[in-house]
Amino acid sequence: MSRCRLCDAALHPVVDFGPMPIANGFLTPERFAHEKRFPLEVAMCPACAMVQLVDVVDEAAMFNADYAFFSSTSAGMARHFGRFAADVKRRLPDDPFVVELGCNDGIMLRHFADGRHLGVEPSANVADAARKLGLDVDTRFFTAALADELRQTRGPADAILGANVVCHIPYLDAVFDGVRRLLGPKGVFAFEDPYIGDILALTSYDQIYDEHVYYFSLTAVAKLAARHGLEVIDAERQPVHGGEVRFTLAHRGARPIHARVGELAAEEAARGLGQPATFDAFAAAVAASKDALVKAVRGVDGPLVGYGATSKSTTVLNYCGLGPDDLAYISDVTPTKIGRYAPGSHIPIRAYADFCADPPQHALLFAWNHAAEIVAKEADWRAAGGRFLTYVPRVEWR
Ligand code: SAH
Ligand code: TMP
Ligand code: ZN
Repeated sequence: MSRCRLCDAALHPVVDFGPMPIANGFLTPERFAHEKRFPLEVAMCPACAMVQLVDVVDEAAMFNADYAFFSSTSAGMARHFGRFAADVKRRLPDDPFVVELGCNDGIMLRHFADGRHLGVEPSANVADAARKLGLDVDTRFFTAALADELRQTRGPADAILGANVVCHIPYLDAVFDGVRRLLGPKGVFAFEDPYIGDILALTSYDQIYDEHVYYFSLTAVAKLAARHGLEVIDAERQPVHGGEVRFTLAHRGARPIHARVGELAAEEAARGLGQPATFDAFAAAVAASKDALVKAVRGVDGPLVGYGATSKSTTVLNYCGLGPDDLAYISDVTPTKIGRYAPGSHIPIRAYADFCADPPQHALLFAWNHAAEIVAKEADWRAAGGRFLTYVPRVEWR
């Protein structure tokens, strides 16, 4: 029986996806024979409500100088992080010190470039891109020890930010401990990650992959915060990456609590987000989604290509057993992915220019979280008869 990483209670198993490669491990053919797999299984804790992976991959195997994900490839996300930065600034004093965990290529931190700031970003290639924007970046993993060092050398933080990074860190207790020590008395810790409430509502099981160790609900985050002398002062739904929540935390009693916190807590209680039975229903929906997608893919007349070599696609392709016979290639705009092959399925990744030069009639939309941006961009292709196959929230053609 596996145990909760946070409270040590026995976990309730949810879905076992089978052996999976590293989600962002886009590779060259010489590496095919050396490709490693690990067991991808998600479970929930009936005691503290935290949804989590049972096994985790060593962080240095995922986040290194070869990290494939550059945040700034999406114009929509760049606009989103401009708004996130502006919202944070409203809560800050004069001459604030702002720390961002997992700042990647600087997509959000660049809005704080003029003031005292620090990015903590262990993937050296994306950290270099941030430095080219004039940002100060430390390439170590954020840990409690690093938090202590930063407090001593740079002073207390007025804001600690993180987007799509806090849920990546297995040693979450140590992160919260570090945040408590680095954060000034009135400081805020604002982080946003995929929301388990949306994953359940959309059957977006492809959010589940090695990098995402935790799948947050307010119920679980509030309990974790309380164990570290922190409290949730705001919880805002965000329409990015398929549905996220931005949690804002402060030292207990330091700041007023927004009414949204009580509202979301009540909604989660009504939906049973802390109840094992809710996750049994999700597991059944995931299995049905897989069957429907495989049927739709195998029913396509003519070539099918993938659109967006997302990390999420690794879960879909490997769980559904899809390969180069099903998809001719996957189109992507990221230079570091083009010319490589998708993890596990070994489907070639080709430049978006190839898609434009010889447009297929059918495309499987892996980047469904960017659907609005992509559907607008591909208006001409769709007008000429091009169709997207999607699987979130259900398997259908668009
Ligand atoms: N914030 C960006 C990037 C998210 S990808 C965005 O939302 O688009 C996650 C990033 O977190 C990666 O760049 C990875 O290198 C970084 N990361 C992983 N573990 C970390 C840790 N312990 N401390 C700080 N950053 C970490
Ligand atoms: P993400 O879902 O993790 O943000 O990754 C999106 C991937 O999709 C990334 O590799 C870039 C790619 N992409 C395209 O190829 N075309 C696009 O128009 C968009 C928005 C993303
Ligand atoms: Zn627990």
